[in-house]
Amino acid sequence: MKIECENAEFEKDMQDLVNLFYDEEDFPFSVKHTFSLDGNTLTSVIETGSGTDAKESKQTFLLPDTTELLKKSLMKRHFKNHLYEVLCRISKKSLPWGSLTGVRPTKFARDLIERGEVKPHLITEVLVRDYHVSADKAKLVFQILNNQKCIIKNDKLIDLFINIPVCPSRCNYCSFISSEYSKVSNKMEEYLACLLKELEAVKKIIHENSYIVRSIYIGGGTPTILTAEQLERLLSNINYPVSEFTVECGRADTITREKFEVLKKYGVSRICVNPQTFCESTLKRIGRKTTNAQVFEAYKLALEFGFVVNMDIIAGLTGERFGIFKRTISTLLELYPENITVHTLSYKNASQIRGEEVKFEADVVKMVDYAEKTLLENGYQPYYIYRQKHQTAGLENVGYFRDGNVCIFNIDSMEDTSSVIALGAGAISKRVFTTENRIERLPNCKFIEDYISRIDEMIEKKKNFF
Ligand SMILES: C[S@@+](CC[C@H](N)C(=O)[O-])C[C@H]1O[C@@H](n2cnc3c(N)ncnc32)[C@H](O)[C@@H]1O
Ligand code: SF4
Repeated sequence: MKIECENAEFEKDMQDLVNLFYDEEDFPFSVKHTFSLDGNTLTSVIETGSGTDAKESKQTFLLPDTTELLKKSLMKRHFKNHLYEVLCRISKKSLPWGSLTGVRPTKFARDLIERGEVKPHLITEVLVRDYHVSADKAKLVFQILNNQKCIIKNDKLIDLFINIPVCPSRCNYCSFISSEYSKVSNKMEEYLACLLKELEAVKKIIHENSYIVRSIYIGGGTPTILTAEQLERLLSNINYPVSEFTVECGRADTITREKFEVLKKYGVSRICVNPQTFCESTLKRIGRKTTNAQVFEAYKLALEFGFVVNMDIIAGLTGERFGIFKRTISTLLELYPENITVHTLSYKNASQIRGEEVKFEADVVKMVDYAEKTLLENGYQPYYIYRQKHQTAGLENVGYFRDGNVCIFNIDSMEDTSSVIALGAGAISKRVFTTENRIERLPNCKFIEDYISRIDEMIEKKKNFF
């Protein structure tokens, strides 16, 4: 495979789009793109193949008189649409999200609306017409935008995120950075001490900048890998009056009544108990050492404590066909948690599985459609969406809610509508400058060992950043 792009800035987009159509090693031809700009007339030429197989596609576009920045973004848009059309023709397939790559669909749509380029009620038509997004996905974007009314853009409102990147064992599909407990158990006390130190510094940052904490999210990994006593030490140091306080308790095998008592005592309102699938042979295959009985037990306990519950599932887990996924959805509906997040398997480098293991792409498309249709029929609504690289069939992850229970943190973090002060290894703080439509990010060290040894340096950077 050979990819040549005259404009180096667009090369990554070119690669991303090609990868959505072809596995890297299967890509059957070379592709070359050239641009020329004569006044406001842009000519885009895409050559595919070589020798007698060579084909050329030429398109011209008239750019409006506008800023250089907007012109560049329009050139990129035309180029991606052009390439998308060529790839559709050659591969004889289309993609659910058309030429949209490297963007979050709802954030992209909101930006178009806020810039005055598109009227809100026309967003579905524009996504279909100008970006080749399928009618169903464009409708999904419209529904999600309507369910994000809780967004408040105010530079003084922030969300707090704490990362516990440790799990009891590693699931083989997982693409997140998280250490196995057995490998870091002797560092947990030190890790907690550093988190408390960072929390203390953050308290000052919040006070000095008159920030108001809108939501708190302790994620991972598996925060409930901490003992009840360790959780108590952490939570007793977080004193902000918020209406939404989430703790991910993803792995049911880490949940105990004692830990829930601590969460309740310190105002946690929402938790995640994640089955991923209710098929126990799949659970064994993917190396997720939990059972359905543990998930049911944990959920029963969560109801007793009155937590809002989210459950994550994944469409496309190795070996799962449509029938199995359908049963997972019906079990979920029997449980009826307030939030359900439907992921599509993404086979990123950090996971132990590779793209070639996802053998049933057509089934995965059916699974995601079925989940949406069935959840909507049962009173759920989509409220946030994100896409990752290498997601099966170019699909997406969607969070659903019922009865008003949206998670503000999920919306804020996916839509970049609020600053986030993020603590712990691998956590990335974000400052959103709403009036300038600008974002800056500050990552902490990725790994626990580095986080512990460089905690003072990270605290210093955070003080300067906020
Ligand atoms: C950061 S993980 C944390 C959740 C928690 N540790 C658990 O496993 O229950 C959040 C969610 O991402 C999803 N996820 C992880 N790896 C994925 C992958 N490769 N493709 C799609 N979804 C994935 C899973 O549904 C998981 O629950
Ligand atoms: S899916 Fe969750 S429990 Fe499994 S390794 Fe990833 S973060 Fe840990």
